[in-house]
Amino acid sequence: MPHAYDLLDVAAFKDKHCLKWHHYPRDVLPLWVADMDFPTAEPIKEALVEQASSNNLGYPVWKGLPGLIESAVEHLKSHNWHIEAADVHLLNGIIPGLYLASLACASEGEEVIIQSPIYPPFMMAVNETRRVPLYNQLRRNNDRWEIDFEHLESLLTPATRLLMLCNPHNPTGHVYSREELEKLAEFVLRHRLWVVSDELHSDLIYPGYKHIPFASLNPELAQRTITLFGPTKSFNIAGLKIGFMIVQNHALLSRLRKLAHGLVWGPNVMAQAASIAAYRQGQEWLADTVQYLDGNRKLIADFLADCLPQVRYLEPKGTYLAWLDFSALELGDNLHNFLLNKAQVGLNPGPSYGPGGEGFARLNFATSRAIVQEALERIHQAVKTER
Ligand SMILES: Cc1ncc(COP(=O)(O)O)c(C=O)c1O
Repeated sequence: MPHAYDLLDVAAFKDKHCLKWHHYPRDVLPLWVADMDFPTAEPIKEALVEQASSNNLGYPVWKGLPGLIESAVEHLKSHNWHIEAADVHLLNGIIPGLYLASLACASEGEEVIIQSPIYPPFMMAVNETRRVPLYNQLRRNNDRWEIDFEHLESLLTPATRLLMLCNPHNPTGHVYSREELEKLAEFVLRHRLWVVSDELHSDLIYPGYKHIPFASLNPELAQRTITLFGPTKSFNIAGLKIGFMIVQNHALLSRLRKLAHGLVWGPNVMAQAASIAAYRQGQEWLADTVQYLDGNRKLIADFLADCLPQVRYLEPKGTYLAWLDFSALELGDNLHNFLLNKAQVGLNPGPSYGPGGEGFARLNFATSRAIVQEALERIHQAVKTER
């Protein structure tokens, strides 16, 4: 029996008013920005309807709707992290947390380590707050991505203050192992760095891998870490804008609060209602969705191995993002235009992910198998014609 996600209708998407389907021309298959094409989980829709019907759309209390913080605390227990409700703080998105971390943990002109290639707002947060990025490129070691620890050590100067971690990593889909995180923790503590750990994709993990919250490794590290997470990627509700920030260091929290004052707000009530429903009643939807995504992840591996071996791909361990290495095609700066104009697929251009992104493109496979297959066939045809 086909899965409900197999029956998604491209024609209907083309008339949907959303960024994903309205950025590129109509003939292009858009597999770019990190939204899923899947229908919203029923418990989330019900919670939104209930909140809208409750005549309670006024200002929420500071700690949010009853159950909001508690549902996040309970959720983190599923990642083996036991924290106090008082250490959970509300944000209207994850990106504001990246900017706040850059402002709070380094001064103007001081340095921030970024593991590139990386989701572009990491670099924007550092550059736009006039901190200095130090790039430590992830490197490919056979069947996995890994941190280049030697290069990491060599980067450090007396002005280095903050390390930015993205786990699971966007765009490679790498899920850091305990061993890697422990080695990184040792580095962080030895050099007395601050850390901001963006764990937004941590519920999108494939069988055989496990998400470990960085701050859960040890209490000393927890004192130096700002953790960002939330339901928006895993439950496909990014338009609602909500994020959680875990800060267990009171001095750091008070700096973050001062910087946020008047600029960064908590999430709106609809987002809060959706988040509670996601964490408390969305697990069945999530498990089914991850299983479907796993099938897409394998479809890409099989297709590329059979038809396009020139395109290198390491199956992501988490996320619904495929980081595709087109460098063997030697298209240089023309890769994005080639994919867009010749193949008519809209992907995220690799160079926008900073050093290490050249020759790559990011494909979002959170859509029906038929759409993923169609996109791959279009790329295959375009490559054959180009030869
Ligand atoms: C790793 C990561 N962090 C943050 C965001 C954006 O989060 P928000 O829309 O809540 O600011 C994304 C969006 O794709 C992401 O992949």
